[in-house]
Amino acid sequence: MGKDVIIACDFESRERTLDFLAQFSACDGCKPFVKIGMELFYAAGPDIVRELKDRGHRVFLDLKLHDIPNTVKKTMRVLSGLGADLCNLHAAGTRAMMEAALEGLTRPDGTRPLLIAVTQLTSTDQAALEQDLWIRAPMEEVILHYAENARAAGLDGVVCSPLEAGKVHGRCGTEFLTVTPGVRFAGGELGDQKRVTTPARARELGSDYIVVGRPITAAPDPVAAYQACVEEFAG
Ligand code: C5P
Repeated sequence: MGKDVIIACDFESRERTLDFLAQFSACDGCKPFVKIGMELFYAAGPDIVRELKDRGHRVFLDLKLHDIPNTVKKTMRVLSGLGADLCNLHAAGTRAMMEAALEGLTRPDGTRPLLIAVTQLTSTDQAALEQDLWIRAPMEEVILHYAENARAAGLDGVVCSPLEAGKVHGRCGTEFLTVTPGVRFAGGELGDQKRVTTPARARELGSDYIVVGRPITAAPDPVAAYQACVEEFAG
């Protein structure tokens, strides 16, 4: 898998998403890899995955599953049937849950979407880790431990900050994917993101995929912003 930019389609409806993506039809050869998160999935329903696949997009289905192994396995079977290319879950659901998820994702012909695990949300800081989650260890150690668990369960990678991508590769191997949100152009608006890097820095740090939302979706010219992002990260 080469380096690529994934656009976070954090929109409230199918119509808004299709209008946004229609702008890319003017761009020769642009078929962005897109991320469907909870907002769009719950608003538009599972058909949005099939529709974007039919239009030729690769789809990261960012639903962050976390439940008992049997429930996650059966849900992953449904998501796999929609044709998603990449799915995810919370590593906190345990190794048994991650193994069950892989089983559920595997189609009768042996193919399956890639599966990655959220280690710790980037909105969780050290204080919340200790006081709310009652985990008494440094954040970085927790993230690397969760990443190792995901690798041991047979997963393909993790969602993490670009700042952690190199360490995850060091611990879990260079083939283990790091999919990283928290990317901003130099001088761009941070919004609610705290620990951010530019696409160029994310590339240097070893991210395999960057997930970019508002710097592209809220840009005056989203296609130009996407192309600039691809050029900086993967060019
Ligand atoms: O607009 P922005 O570029 O901040 O969008 C980042 C996307 O990545 C959002 O869809 C957000 O939900 C997602 N994400 C994140 N941090 C995580 C996991 C997912 O920002 N730890």
